[in-house]
Amino acid sequence: MQAKREPSQVDLHEPWRIRDVEIPTRLVLAPMAGVSVQAFRRQGRRYGAGLVCSEMVSCAGLHHGNERTLGYLRIAGDEHPLAVQIFGSEPAVMAEAARMVADAGADIVDINFGCPVRKVTKTGAGATLLEDPGRACAIVAAVASAVDLPVSVKMRRGLEDGSRACLAVGPRLVEVGAASLTLHPRSAKQMYTGTADHALTAELVELVDVPIIASGDVTSRARAQAVLAATGASAVMIGRAAQGNPWVLREILEEGTGEPSREEVVAELVLFMRETVRELGDRKANGFLKKFYGWYLGRGRFPRAFKAELTQLDDFVEVECRLFAAAPGARFVLARLEEEQPTADEVTLDLPISIYGGG
Ligand SMILES: Cc1cc2nc3c(=O)[nH]c(=O)nc-3n(C[C@H](O)[C@H](O)[C@H](O)COP(=O)(O)O)c2cc1C
Repeated sequence: MQAKREPSQVDLHEPWRIRDVEIPTRLVLAPMAGVSVQAFRRQGRRYGAGLVCSEMVSCAGLHHGNERTLGYLRIAGDEHPLAVQIFGSEPAVMAEAARMVADAGADIVDINFGCPVRKVTKTGAGATLLEDPGRACAIVAAVASAVDLPVSVKMRRGLEDGSRACLAVGPRLVEVGAASLTLHPRSAKQMYTGTADHALTAELVELVDVPIIASGDVTSRARAQAVLAATGASAVMIGRAAQGNPWVLREILEEGTGEPSREEVVAELVLFMRETVRELGDRKANGFLKKFYGWYLGRGRFPRAFKAELTQLDDFVEVECRLFAAAPGARFVLARLEEEQPTADEVTLDLPISIYGGG
């Protein structure tokens, strides 16, 4: 627990730890399904996230050796510290998944007790586990005894609006081995409506003596400092605000860095596209990337019609050409970025090569 401070006294650069994993800043990049690919995480680390997290990975998919699921375990050497998040409802299968996550080279195993999506909750996984504390504890205990890595849990406040289930379950999860908790204080029912009630985060901080990460609606430096100061949480998690917008991490960490230039935006987008194509393969990357065009080029950075035009294209070379035509200086920024960044060959690829072909 952090001592309560005035917002202006919060030092976002102060390192902290989850057990023996040192985390260099107070910003954590959120796990987001369909978003948190390796390129997103590596970029997040470059812009100041102290810890990054994979999207949720199905323990059943890992158990069955599903090629696509195994692909989520690709970890690059410059992502550390990194958490890989798993979801499921069977303690033994979750423990097996955790061992695979550890073998893949993750620093932390994160468990999802927050997903509100029916496809996941109907299997007894995700947020439903907040209402089944016995099973939730059995999962955490099984995972914690299966691996030497710290185990963290990410949860919502509960299933129904106004629920305080997280305050009942959280301390029990710590007792059975959770080394850190992340709270997104909305109910599962709320999905992403309403606001995150960080008064609940402050209550959770008081109840346990492991680091708490506050997730929900942190979009600016002022908000990050206010949430850290008011809750005593060890770090804030940044989710939607960082979609196509790594600059928000820099802005939160450093006062007055301001908006990126059009050249920077295009260069980062093209680098992101190239890395994602390498990671997912052409076909899968095509659908995946379209939402990112809007996210990168939005926020008043480029005209709406330009974003719409790009999403009509299926050929990356053509998309790159149009982007460079809109901001010619971006080629130089990109060349510098590519020079500074280790290439894919230099990063660790610890898994059998068959896994990487999965696209
Ligand atoms: C598109 C999307 C996908 C998400 N996927 C996950 C996930 O896989 N695991 C998880 O724990 N939370 C997931 N979340 C929740 C976020 O991690 C975060 O808790 C939530 O968005 C609130 O933070 P924000 O206001 O900063 O976005 C997802 C959120 C979004 C918007």
